[in-house]
Amino acid sequence: MAQVFTSELVKHEGQEVTLKGWVANLRSSGKIWFLEFRDGAGFVQVIVDAAEVDKDSLKTMEVLTIESSAIIIGTVAKHPKKDEYEIKAKSVKLVAPSPEYPIGKKEHGPDFLLDNRHLWLRSSRQWAIQRIRNTIINTIYSHLNANGFIKIDAPILTPTSCEGTTTLFSIDYFGEPAYLTQSGQLYIEAAIFSHGRVFDFGPVFRAEKSKTRRHLTEFWMMDAEAAFVEHEENLKIQENLIATIVKAVLVNNKKELEILERDTTILQRVAPPFYRLTHKEAIAKLRERGSDIKDMDDLGADDETLLTELYDKPIFVEKYPAAVKAFYMKRDPADPKRVLNADLLAPEGYGEIIGGSQREDDYDALLARMKEEKLNIADFQWYLDLRKYGSVPHSGFGVGLERLVAWICGLKHVRESIPFPRLLNRLRP
Ligand code: 4AD
Ligand code: MG
Repeated sequence: MAQVFTSELVKHEGQEVTLKGWVANLRSSGKIWFLEFRDGAGFVQVIVDAAEVDKDSLKTMEVLTIESSAIIIGTVAKHPKKDEYEIKAKSVKLVAPSPEYPIGKKEHGPDFLLDNRHLWLRSSRQWAIQRIRNTIINTIYSHLNANGFIKIDAPILTPTSCEGTTTLFSIDYFGEPAYLTQSGQLYIEAAIFSHGRVFDFGPVFRAEKSKTRRHLTEFWMMDAEAAFVEHEENLKIQENLIATIVKAVLVNNKKELEILERDTTILQRVAPPFYRLTHKEAIAKLRERGSDIKDMDDLGADDETLLTELYDKPIFVEKYPAAVKAFYMKRDPADPKRVLNADLLAPEGYGEIIGGSQREDDYDALLARMKEEKLNIADFQWYLDLRKYGSVPHSGFGVGLERLVAWICGLKHVRESIPFPRLLNRLRP
């Protein structure tokens, strides 16, 4: 009999089906067993009544343990109380045993779980997080494609930095120093002159020497870039994207959000326009709340947490001091000490999920900024060329996928949002 998935049980009420998967949990009372069965698509309760199954199945039940793989044949029945289906088993066949599975019901510490990440991924919470991550990825592609952006792949091996030299991972490129990319932005800027609106989506690397709940050393970034888009429109593109993503998760991942016990009150409210504060206003608010942050300081993680606790929707903090931001950001004509940028901060204390800006499109102004930052001009000549041949006003932004997943799922630490996290003190498994 063909395999049926737990996600399709509604179509099979009353019918006999074959399920293939793993025993996520198991309890018995006398001659009845209750299996929590996982098949990749989801979870279902399987009831195995000794009186209803054949002899071989009975033997299997006596040796079946948590995480054994098995094939179940049984009838789909509506759960007597809940809005769910369950399976009344007719046969249980062992595919492979699972002796003494190390992850049990008892509480495990984070180090133990991370050491066993290859197994931990099977747990229902981790299952739910990766399903939501998948919805977010797909929605980014579909929403941007529907809005005239095409995907352009940026290189991972690069001769220069994009976001400052302090977090570069160096490698030896046949005797020449090279680095793992921090963001594909500079390269996709080149592609707007060919395609107008583009995005990349791939792994980026930062040698972050800090242990925080927001920092990974390898994470996934989606950079978007658009020709003839200025600061104001850049923010609109971002809020529409984030609102579409949150809506898609609320519609497609109800079950997953339930497993995560995510209170979705704030997620339900995520609709444009988002709140907007200038950096100056943000500093004033932070001081009111007891921070000793100075006028031209960057916002630290604690400041972002403090600020976002005040709001029930994402907030843009815009027009930061040029001195604390990257060289490519365009100066604010109204205040040349500041740039036309915005960081998007997620509510509920999560902080920065997007960094973006209008780009400096004037050759001389950009060259001057690069000299100030002591960049090797020869290595960036190609980037300056973009301001020499048909330069246009343009803007873009980068979404940190794991930060976004962590917020939407309500995770305490970003490490659970990626299948195999890379952290200051973790490269394994
Ligand atoms: O703010 P960032 O550094 O911006 C850029 O790299 C720009 N080049 C993007 C652009 O304009 N195209 O990084 C973008 C986002 C941050 O807002 C944050 O969500 C995430 O990437 N991020 C990290 N996520 C996990 N771990 C880290 N160490 C991160 N650093 C940044
Ligand atoms: Mg940033």
